[in-house]
Amino acid sequence: MIELSFTEVVIALGYLAAGVLFIVGLKGLTSPKTARRGNRIASIGMLVAIIIVIFDLVSHDQISSNTAWAIIGGGVLVGGAIGGYLALRVKMTDMPQLVAAFNGFGGGASALVAAEVIVSIEAAFSVEIGVTTALSLIIGSITLTGSFIAYAKLQGLIGGKPVAIPGGPATNAIIAAATVAASVFAIATGNTTGYWIATGLALVLGITAVLPIGGADMPVVISLLNSFSGLAAAMAGFTIGNQALIIGGALVGAAGLILTLDMSVAMNRSIPNILFSGFGGTVSDEEIGTKPVKRATAEDAAIALSYAERVIVVPGYGLAVAQAQYAVRDLANALEEKGVEVHYAIHPVAGRMPGHMNVLLAEADISYDLLLDLDQSNPRFGQTDVVLVIGANDVINPAAKNDENSPIYGMPILNVDEATTVIVVKRSLSPGFAGIDNPLFYEEGTMMYFADAKVALEETLSAVNQL
Ligand code: TAP
Repeated sequence: MIELSFTEVVIALGYLAAGVLFIVGLKGLTSPKTARRGNRIASIGMLVAIIIVIFDLVSHDQISSNTAWAIIGGGVLVGGAIGGYLALRVKMTDMPQLVAAFNGFGGGASALVAAEVIVSIEAAFSVEIGVTTALSLIIGSITLTGSFIAYAKLQGLIGGKPVAIPGGPATNAIIAAATVAASVFAIATGNTTGYWIATGLALVLGITAVLPIGGADMPVVISLLNSFSGLAAAMAGFTIGNQALIIGGALVGAAGLILTLDMSVAMNRSIPNILFSGFGGTVSDEEIGTKPVKRATAEDAAIALSYAERVIVVPGYGLAVAQAQYAVRDLANALEEKGVEVHYAIHPVAGRMPGHMNVLLAEADISYDLLLDLDQSNPRFGQTDVVLVIGANDVINPAAKNDENSPIYGMPILNVDEATTVIVVKRSLSPGFAGIDNPLFYEEGTMMYFADAKVALEETLSAVNQL
């Protein structure tokens, strides 16, 4: 039987408590109602993990000098202050960039842990430790530079268009193969230069792999890099024998991968297609905008909405651009006062990041109970009098069902064309992210209200109030 000292029991239980808090916190993130609480629980888990790591180090006499304490304290204070400041200041629309930056730092931190282990190496690594150290270095480095390229694209520091790299995907395949070869050499021979070459190549690979991906696909890339940052942390955990890193890293790795797969399913695109197709730089069809449409004014929209029994609002990226979440809430309140039943249909990839629409509508205090997901809303459109589409395009495009040649064929969409009347609010007939025309705009039951979403909703509200 293994005898554990009191200190070892405290450390083991502390890591276990941190792991349980991470899992309970993650569970909370599965519903908008419990998400805030889940986030707080997980951050308490992180605090417990930090305290236990320090306790663990102190009990093994690994923090002996005042300088070491000053570095730890300074790291916690400076890192915590920067994180807190950014989280409080960030605009909702800039959230993907912030997540990208956090992922990048997470990957970089794991790579640094592995680098420190290599620098302070006294005897040759076992193969197991060599493999986890190399993986932590490589995955962490790719995550670091890849995340900051994603950040720069979303922040508009470099163009969002796909940037072709010389040699295309073959170049990346060669860099990846060389990275693996350098790591195998380091693990097999114990020559640490191999690790540093692999790290340098992985830093380059992060840049060359993300540059060719279009800006609008960045949320999927960020989610994938989030998964990578978790994997890098878990590998670093194996290297230094830290259970909190292993559990936390595995959870982030798995959650990020599930989210990435969910997004690709909701767009009916494979991960390789997202990573290698340069989608999102598509040129719009010359045909777009040449066919006749039925135009609507604020008065037309007000009459259709006020005399409806059931209305479903479909928000899209344009709602976020126009910051029209308060205007849509005010209009919905006015309609509800007239006895109209109003719901919101949320497509999983409406907008530009997971949960984009949920966050916007929650900001305007729209009740979660009124939000319908794809499976809940599709059976309802047939019994709906008016669907009000606000700045959405691809997620309501019937070509995804009817046109086998369409690039979005097979993407699950909201079947708004089954409603009696569809009012589409957008500024023009320009395409959405996929760069393709939308046959819904020319259908018999569709009215196009060309205006900025916020302006259109405010004008419609005042017309509703005058009825
Ligand atoms: P989109 O298809 O991109 O269409 C948005 C529409 O909003 C545009 O057609 C634009 O038309 C309109 N718009 C822009 N600014 C506006 C404003 N101020 N007022 C009114 N309308 C405005 O958006 P969607 O339907 O939400 O679809 C999302 C797309 O993003 C999908 O193709 C999806 O695959 C992709 N995507 C999503 C995610 C996630 S996780 N959400 C990740 C990667 C990719 P006008 O210019 O004519 O106004």
